[in-house]
Amino acid sequence: MKRTEKTARLTRVSVFASRLAKMSLALGLVLMTGCAGESGREDVSKASSSMDQNASSTLISDTESQTEVSELSQAVEDGHASNDQHEKENVIVVYFSATGTTKEIAERLADQIGCDTFEIVPAEPYTEEDLDYYNDCRADREQEDPSARPEIAQTLSSLDDYDTVLVGYPIWHGKAPRIISTFMESGDFSGKRIIPFCTSGGSSASDSDQALHDLVDSSAKWDDPTRFEASADDDMLQSWIDEHDISAR
Ligand SMILES: Cc1cc2nc3c(=O)[nH]c(=O)nc-3n(C[C@H](O)[C@H](O)[C@H](O)COP(=O)(O)O)c2cc1C
Repeated sequence: MKRTEKTARLTRVSVFASRLAKMSLALGLVLMTGCAGESGREDVSKASSSMDQNASSTLISDTESQTEVSELSQAVEDGHASNDQHEKENVIVVYFSATGTTKEIAERLADQIGCDTFEIVPAEPYTEEDLDYYNDCRADREQEDPSARPEIAQTLSSLDDYDTVLVGYPIWHGKAPRIISTFMESGDFSGKRIIPFCTSGGSSASDSDQALHDLVDSSAKWDDPTRFEASADDDMLQSWIDEHDISAR
């Protein structure tokens, strides 16, 4: 229903409410005649008869208003019903995880949402040595180089089927690993909603996704990134899903 129609209907409802009040007053006067003396009774009965007439004509002419009240309450109910139903989207959880923490959160989120997943697997797997951070390991060097684009073993064929893409990663030196950049550049994110999430040893998600924004079409809509504790329970995941209004088809 359009806003102006709603306003008009609400006005009619308030007119109807004020007419109801008048009718109650008339009824009160009718009852009073039972208690009034003979002289007073005539005046009261005149007044009440004129108000009764008013009230009964009001009653008849208010049939329309009553119909509208019930229509309006139906519309309000319908409005609630449609608010309760989140808009359904095609959702996918895409993630990279070097040591399994992000993977677990990603798989559980996908389970709870009831959506597809895609794991970003590096063409050259990261060894323990590659992940020995702060020791000039491979991962350290990649993070220092904004143009590093580690190859992905198998790319996602198309993002066309999805409206919303959750992107999960471990924080590497405050940022998303460069392999996430490889993934973002490989797909067409035009008009899609992107929801970043991460795990870390303690660093916040803060602007870990910021460098990724320039890698996709500017029509993509980014939610703020969230960091999950490895110990996040199902209720926490569900309230995050609800907060972000994620509802899979
Ligand atoms: C190269 C590298 C850099 C990291 N940098 C950070 C960091 O800046 N802050 C932090 O809290 N944790 C950091 N970590 C720890 C990971 O973010 C953390 O262990 C994460 O949960 C691992 O996720 P995964 O098991 O999915 O790979 C780093 C780990 C690696 C390998």
